[in-house]
Amino acid sequence: MARLEVKNLCFKRYGREIINNFSFIFESGKIYVINGSSGVGKTTLLNLLAMRCRPTSGDIFLNSDNFSTLSRQEVKEYRCRKVAYIAQDFDLIPEITIEENCALSLLIQGVKRKEAIKHSEKVLRKWLNEEVIGGGNINKISGGQKQRLSIARAFSFSSEFIIGDEPSSNIDNKNCIKLVKELIDKRNNGTCVILSSHDQRLLNIADELISL
Ligand SMILES: Nc1ncnc2c1ncn2[C@@H]1O[C@H](COP(=O)(O)OP(=O)(O)OP(=O)(O)O)[C@@H](O)[C@H]1O
Ligand SMILES: [Mg+2]
Repeated sequence: MARLEVKNLCFKRYGREIINNFSFIFESGKIYVINGSSGVGKTTLLNLLAMRCRPTSGDIFLNSDNFSTLSRQEVKEYRCRKVAYIAQDFDLIPEITIEENCALSLLIQGVKRKEAIKHSEKVLRKWLNEEVIGGGNINKISGGQKQRLSIARAFSFSSEFIIGDEPSSNIDNKNCIKLVKELIDKRNNGTCVILSSHDQRLLNIADELISL
């Protein structure tokens, strides 16, 4: 059972306070949706929760362990294995194929290439049309297809946390319904789902709303 506790979190960028004294407890088996106007700091907060950047001050506890006391290896384990992240800008690598991008989390976890690609292929087919798979280049797919690829990558392994930064911003209604269903299933299986969104369809499934 995962638990992420954030205490008095502050984050400054170029001297400007973006996150100011934010405290919260995120627990497994719940969906949290963060909303707030553009530029308020949603992406910054999600990056902090995923340990993609460090707070200026304040503490983040994973279960009872303070992140500031974890070793570099333990933080890497958290980022790679415990958190599945759907980035607002998709975080795809143009130099590698669509399949490799989908398998990237598994590859970073150390799974052998062939096995990682085979394992992630099923979920990739669920999210992308067959015609754009097959050694395809991510420069040749649309914004919505890139977002679906990023979603497929996040769902290609079992994680304790799913962090999604406006994960429905580029996809159509049919795919959004699919995403909602998948997130509810994950939540019901004990995953802690933390999203940022303005999308009413995602706001509707929130167990807790966080307004920044
Ligand atoms: N790379 C950067 N360099 C400098 N300032 C930045 C950078 N990225 C974000 N900021 C600033 O940090 C603040 C918070 O940005 P953040 O991306 O967290 O907002 P957001 O709530 O996710 O916005 P949006 O809804 O538009 O995605 C913004 O006001 C922005 O000006
Ligand atoms: Mg953002």
